[in-house]
Amino acid sequence: MKTNISKNMLSSFFADRKQLTYIILIMILISICGYLYKINLDFKKENILKAEEAKILKVSLDEINQKYIDIINKIEVTEKDKIALFNSLNGVLSDYNGLMQSYDTKIKEVDILNKAVFLDDELLKKYSKFYFLNENYAPSSTQIINTEYTLNNKEIKILSEVKPKLENMILAAKNADQNASSTNNFGEINLVVHSGYRSFAEQKGLKSAYTKTYGISKSNQFSADQGYSEHQLGTTVDLTDGKSGLVTSFEKTETFTWLKDNAYKYGFILSYNKNNSYYQYEPWHWRYVGVELATYMKTNNLNFYDIDQNKIDEYKTKIFD
Ligand code: DAL
Ligand code: ZN
Repeated sequence: MKTNISKNMLSSFFADRKQLTYIILIMILISICGYLYKINLDFKKENILKAEEAKILKVSLDEINQKYIDIINKIEVTEKDKIALFNSLNGVLSDYNGLMQSYDTKIKEVDILNKAVFLDDELLKKYSKFYFLNENYAPSSTQIINTEYTLNNKEIKILSEVKPKLENMILAAKNADQNASSTNNFGEINLVVHSGYRSFAEQKGLKSAYTKTYGISKSNQFSADQGYSEHQLGTTVDLTDGKSGLVTSFEKTETFTWLKDNAYKYGFILSYNKNNSYYQYEPWHWRYVGVELATYMKTNNLNFYDIDQNKIDEYKTKIFD
């Protein structure tokens, strides 16, 4: 009996335990399910949150992307504008250069016309017999040559435009003299101005004095009548070395040799060469005709009075260049 009871109790106990186990298992299962459900819920929530964040980020990203595209577009537009601006700048520059060139050309043309109109027509004429200057003719303006360069420091006038050319030539001769002296193989080069501008009246007085002293025939060989002297132009000077005076033997001096080789560089030429048909040989008498004409004469070994007047006149506008 006791055993039955015990058995019953035991079996009831086990039955209970089984039930309990089931219950516990069910509870565990429920808990797991609940937990899993919660995890799933949390996961979903987090997913939704992340999705929203991602959406927001996507919007920001799209905005940034749009800004980037806008900036790139602006850069492209700016680049195009820059190229267009450079192109128009180049266009403006080339227009400017073209205008400057035509301006320069016009200025030169005006300068030549001005010279042709305002330059004294007489300056390159042949005065020894062909042309005549009347008693009213005087150079447009004269200046006194630096008296350091004149004989006995006399005040001698010359055409204003010719003064610097003459003084430059005298300085060049002085330099040549110094260089020659330092090598001791060259004689003295010393350019001294004996006479320059002479008015019609002064030439008249001089010619009549020479005529009284030497007679008409002799004086005609070395002195022009009034109105026919190059000295009246103001462009002409008589030069010596300060020792020899106005004599033919001046040609034997180093000063004359230097003049013969270099005077053309300063625009001066010898008017009355040996065997000219107007006057005796005058190695001292130098006329300013401009560097271009003097160089042309030197290069072609020509004498002023042998050149056609039309050819000479081509050099008129360049006389003071
Ligand atoms: N001695 C030159 C010819 C003159 O008197 O002009
Ligand atoms: Zn002279």
